[in-house]
Amino acid sequence: MDNKAMDWSNLDFGYRKTNQRYVSNYKGGAWDDGYMTEDDTITMSECAGVLQYAQTVFEGMKAYTTEDGRIVTFRPDLNADRMIDSAKRLEMPVFPKDRFIDAIEKVVSANKDFVPPYGSGATLYIRPYMFGISPVIGVKPAEDYQFRVFTTPVGPYFKGGAKPITIKVSDFDRAAPNGTGNIKAGLNYAMSLHAIVTAHKEGYDENMYLDPQTRSKVEETGGANFLFVTKDNEIVTPQSDSILPSITRRSLVQVARDYLGLKVTERPIDISELSDFAECGLCGTAAVISPVGKVVDHGKEICFASGMDEMGPITKKLYDTLTGIQMGRIEAPEGWIHEIV
Ligand code: PLP
Ligand code: COI
Repeated sequence: MDNKAMDWSNLDFGYRKTNQRYVSNYKGGAWDDGYMTEDDTITMSECAGVLQYAQTVFEGMKAYTTEDGRIVTFRPDLNADRMIDSAKRLEMPVFPKDRFIDAIEKVVSANKDFVPPYGSGATLYIRPYMFGISPVIGVKPAEDYQFRVFTTPVGPYFKGGAKPITIKVSDFDRAAPNGTGNIKAGLNYAMSLHAIVTAHKEGYDENMYLDPQTRSKVEETGGANFLFVTKDNEIVTPQSDSILPSITRRSLVQVARDYLGLKVTERPIDISELSDFAECGLCGTAAVISPVGKVVDHGKEICFASGMDEMGPITKKLYDTLTGIQMGRIEAPEGWIHEIV
């Protein structure tokens, strides 16, 4: 397949098959050497662990074309670490960190033609994942696993890109206390499907999930962490054991402190505090920083001062600095940018 038909500037966040993907199999207690393939299909037992008991974990990352034409990824070591944490929690074998990074390099390199050009607004989304492939009928971990990485060129996660969205406080939970909310397991996303379809039917763009124990603290959305800006231009972001430790959020915390000189606090945030904030953003690999203009809590509207027309000024500074670092316009902290050669 060639990339000629790609209208880079108008891509949505969807799957488009690219040429090559990486596969490695875990059998008899060890990973094989792995290989690249054009085959985008998987054949497995009808009783595979992933199909019966959702034994699957994944990651999400992006490759960018920089201003000077290099192809780079952003902090892939942190994705490798998080996938290790996810695998351990679901009793899966660990895919070694050096091999994870090597697989990312191979797949991006083999699909270079699909990395959107600098300035197009699109990126190459990278999806590493691992699943139990051998048959399991009693509830227990599979014996054999497959690790794969594919890529797909994507545009903005939310239609309209930088336009503020409206979200609702969900009556559903996406995580359980002491559950799997802090890892990237497919089951967390299955949990959120009914909630997101319901929110969309009601006209909302996303859900705000509350902490599952007390339903009084702000947690995250189905695919991004929250970041708030106070009226005094301070950053506040939720601290919780049941949210995914977002690499984008952790990076933005550092960007806010070290590049923008802002005060940042990570702490539990009560839902009643929302109206005190001036700006709200959703941060994640897919979301980058998507501004939230309004939160609706059971009919009560909380409208942020930044409004419904554009990103708030601090959110915009964070967005410009982070994307500047990712696209090579701004010098990155040591180790953040991983060039693909
Ligand atoms: N929270 C959830 C539930 C996610 O799925 C994601 C996406 O990966 C994030 C947060 C953001 O994490 P990251 O910034 O590492 O992509
Ligand atoms: C990502 O941001 O990479 C994710 O995995 C989130 C998902 C909602 C696309």
